[in-house]
Amino acid sequence: MSTTAAADPFGSAKELHEVLARLRRESPVTEMPLPNGATAWLVTRYEDAQRALGDPRLSKAVSASGVNYRNLVPPEVGEAVTRHMLATDPPDHTRLRRLVSSAFTARRTAALRPWIEELAERLLDEMAGAEQVDLLDAYAYPLPIQVLCQLLGVPVEEQADFRGWVSAIVAGPMDVRAWPPAITAMVGYIGELLERKRRQPGDDLLSALLAVRDEGDRLTDDELTSMVYLLLIAGHETTANLIANGMLVLLAEPDRWARVVAAPELLPGVIEELLRYEGPVQAASFRTTLEPVELGGQLIPAGASVLVSLASANRDPARYAEADQLVLNRPAVPNLAFGHGIHYCLGAPLARLEAQVAFRALARRFPGIRLAIPVDEVVWRPSLLIRCLTGLPVTLNG
Ligand code: HEM
Repeated sequence: MSTTAAADPFGSAKELHEVLARLRRESPVTEMPLPNGATAWLVTRYEDAQRALGDPRLSKAVSASGVNYRNLVPPEVGEAVTRHMLATDPPDHTRLRRLVSSAFTARRTAALRPWIEELAERLLDEMAGAEQVDLLDAYAYPLPIQVLCQLLGVPVEEQADFRGWVSAIVAGPMDVRAWPPAITAMVGYIGELLERKRRQPGDDLLSALLAVRDEGDRLTDDELTSMVYLLLIAGHETTANLIANGMLVLLAEPDRWARVVAAPELLPGVIEELLRYEGPVQAASFRTTLEPVELGGQLIPAGASVLVSLASANRDPARYAEADQLVLNRPAVPNLAFGHGIHYCLGAPLARLEAQVAFRALARRFPGIRLAIPVDEVVWRPSLLIRCLTGLPVTLNG
């Protein structure tokens, strides 16, 4: 599939994957410049990527000098966004992950299914009748944000602000003007929300996290705020882009969508293939070497930043036959779209559930849905870590 965007720093998806393929062949662990002038070691082969993500010598708690996001956090926010599990190593990570896992259970996720199904129907009702809609705006974004609000216990009328904050925060420290105010606003809001939940607990994840905290006092205020902050950031944009990128890929060739419509029971396998082929998270978050580390025949010095390309690992021909092709009935071979090791995505079961419900509802209600523009006119947003569209115009009854 070819997609182009003048604003995309990597050029088209095809060009990006050509560059990654060359790196996998010729220079699988390579030092590359970052937009802020620092450098990071880019890991492109599946085997090396998996090894790097499981290596305790690659730290999340320590920042390399060139990629120190903590320095950019507004001082009034203090530690309230940097004490979460994706910014810690064991033993802190183990404790934080265990605490949230005791509240964010498989049962809590599975119990959301009927609620998500109703939500999908409601969003599709609102779209019905329109000649053309932006599926990203009307469906792919609102679905996960409303699910997160339901999970956490955020009143539905307060969710409107989130999208703005989250998208500024995900655009990241690369846009240093938008970042600090969005973080400050979000932290202020989380603080108020926690206060409300403390006074009036509900049957939601935030109240459960507060109970965990208040019982054993094992989560500090900063850890709790950071946890909520991470869940909101990690669970929103990612899932939205799985739905949107997935639909783009499925609609790019009409027989793909026709197969999903005819056999929706294939969806769990199709979703794994979409995650592999056009997953929303292009690269795992930066890690820092605590000591010199040999990876893929390359010695990375201590104190260096490492960026693991999940997009590249997931198309490594050493692991997948026809790695650059979308194969809807590909035999199940796990991929790295949700990461690997101790930081493996905590929300993977929820993301998979949301995607299944979202695609199934669309297939049932709008089997004739089509792209409203040629596939190569779709525009990607410039982003180093997230693979995201600027819009996905479709006609519903094509
Ligand atoms: C971690 C991907 C949805 C919560 C991760 C990581 C990846 C990832 C690649 C590892 C990052 C790293 O090692 O640097 C995705 C994708 C999603 C998705 C592709 C959707 C398709 C969600 C959802 C939630 C969530 C829905 C929660 C509601 C988290 C958390 C972590 C994480 C808390 C950090 C885990 C830790 O540090 O132990 N995710 N994610 N994610 N994700 Fe997700």
